Amino acid sequence: MTKLYDQLKEDHRNLVKVLDVLKRQIALYDTREEEGAEKPDSALILDIMDYIQHYPDRFHHPLEEACFDYLDEQNRGDAAARDAIRAEHKELEHSSSKVRTRLNAINLGEAVPLDKLHQTLDQFHTLQLDHLKREEKTVFRDIKALDDAASAIILDRVEHRHDPLFAEVANQQFNELIRQLKYD
Ligand SMILES: [Fe+2]
Ligand SMILES: [Fe+2]
Repeated sequence: MTKLYDQLKEDHRNLVKVLDVLKRQIALYDTREEEGAEKPDSALILDIMDYIQHYPDRFHHPLEEACFDYLDEQNRGDAAARDAIRAEHKELEHSSSKVRTRLNAINLGEAVPLDKLHQTLDQFHTLQLDHLKREEKTVFRDIKALDDAASAIILDRVEHRHDPLFAEVANQQFNELIRQLKYD
């Protein structure tokens, strides 16, 4: 397995774990009225959004797109599938900032119905998870077929970022999220 493919797979595994934490928070919206029920943690949800906007949106997707550009140059693999995934990346980024804006508005005291927020988060979660599955079923096949030389060329073309959650020295901002990931 190349370093490149390894990295992309690991990013997916990690993002699935983060999305699981989000899913648990979303479920708390359903039970929040029950006596003694745990309430959704808006600071934790904001940290999840920060992470997604900082790492998958800013490093993982550009790395995938660098693979797509390389495969385009070489005229290899499924170009239509790549175009579909590129379009999804735009949609995902748009969706992250929409969710973020709504959460910020709530933090600033704007009255957003909780059901509406629940629905927005649920859609966001589904969109993210479906995207990972679709990539693994389509474009990952062509990326997996690339050799070490191609992997090195592609990795060289992107600006590297450390994963602030799963790196050895994680960013302290994410302490609570890391605790929840371990609890999983
Ligand atoms: Fe992607
Ligand atoms: Fe991906």
